[in-house]
Amino acid sequence: MPSTLRCHCGAEPVDAVLPFTCSQRGKDDREHVLVRSLSEPMALPGGAPSGNPFLRYRRRLHAHTRALAAGWDDARFAALVDRVDAAVAAVDGGGFRVTPCAEQPALAAACGHGGSLWVKDETGNVSGSHKARHLMGVALHLEVAGVPRDTPLAIASCGNAALAAAVVAKAVQRPLQVFIPPDASPAVVARLEALGAASNVCERQPGLPGDPCYHGFVEAVQGGALPFTCQGPDNGLTIEGGQTLAWELVEQLRAQPLDRLFVQVGGGALASAVAAGLQEAFEAGDLPQLPRLHLVQTQAAWPLARATLRLVDHIAQRMELPTGFQDRADVLASAFDGPVVQDALAWARSARSWLMWPWDDAPHSVAHGILDDETYDWYAAAVGMLRSGGWPLVVTEDQLIRAQRLARAHTPIPVDPTGSSGLAGLLELAGTMPGERVGALFTGVER
Ligand SMILES: Cc1ncc(COP(=O)(O)O)c(C=O)c1O
Ligand SMILES: [Zn+2]
Repeated sequence: MPSTLRCHCGAEPVDAVLPFTCSQRGKDDREHVLVRSLSEPMALPGGAPSGNPFLRYRRRLHAHTRALAAGWDDARFAALVDRVDAAVAAVDGGGFRVTPCAEQPALAAACGHGGSLWVKDETGNVSGSHKARHLMGVALHLEVAGVPRDTPLAIASCGNAALAAAVVAKAVQRPLQVFIPPDASPAVVARLEALGAASNVCERQPGLPGDPCYHGFVEAVQGGALPFTCQGPDNGLTIEGGQTLAWELVEQLRAQPLDRLFVQVGGGALASAVAAGLQEAFEAGDLPQLPRLHLVQTQAAWPLARATLRLVDHIAQRMELPTGFQDRADVLASAFDGPVVQDALAWARSARSWLMWPWDDAPHSVAHGILDDETYDWYAAAVGMLRSGGWPLVVTEDQLIRAQRLARAHTPIPVDPTGSSGLAGLLELAGTMPGERVGALFTGVER
């Protein structure tokens, strides 16, 4: 079996055919998310990446493992990927292709970074963001599993994730229910409708904490809809499709890998996917060292940074840590496999509510795509930072606005403020990384 899916708690998926969630989820305060792992390190294909990443990396996908276990051969799986990709192209004007990654010297200089800056551009990806990668992975699994075509899919989102879900769902001819807030952009709602998705408007209920759209989604799933979502705890398989982004990045920068990578965080699936993708490449010898992972949130809502601070405080009570951010991150990275950090992570996995709970106020920011009031995939994101010598960054509204302005002025990439919010993290650290090769992901197009 090249890949397996298992929860941190050790339990099996709730359903063997549709392995989206852990069978123990909701029964206790543990972290329950199905993590797909390769049975042994698998090297990336080699050479400059091109073409459809889901074809290029298909042998790493859990859907491929499941297909082979069901008696398919590789050619049949490849034909499925081609067929779904052609359907996506028919819906959205283009299918999945390796996205560009280019050095941006003018932007680096304008940001005050005295080293090189590489930007991976997802704005031309299916539906205008990286989100469709997550959903393509899930869609392939649904096809392999032979899920009846009239089984409804569900997602809570009013932005890029919903648009991506609607495109991919239409491509595989499956009905989609989207749970959106009352203030969702009329243009997005119209596009969802045009794609055949059913929108359900969810009002905030007094006294009920958390995102009302998420509550609507959960009810739909309890009623038999399948979680077609970009949140790992609701569907562990969604992380894997996002990993294609990291594998591409590793192959594109193979000659000179990054020292640091800045990644914006909302629900945390992107960060979880990038961290997992880099870690697999590292374990297979495709990456000589992990870039420091800096996960970026806004001052309006920073539940991941809050959780990571609590976790590091817990470690600091058991082990001497230096005060400077980078020195501390270096000590944590070198102690990562040791008993203190590992015990702290085991504690964190068993005490989710100590570390992650919904942000109190309804947050506002120009980077509205990263305002999730809970970082659903916080654990994998925090591990990705600790293991790599990175740390979280919380940026101001001014930095977010400036990041997008500089991105638009100094690159041809039509990125929106959410899409360039990782770059705001670079602005926060600019001047402290002389000579380093750093990377940012421009994840969403300005609509
Ligand atoms: C353009 C863009 N970038 C980044 C993110 C953050 O991704 P995640 O929610 O997986 O942390 C989002 C989420 O909506 C997004 O739309
Ligand atoms: Zn579990």
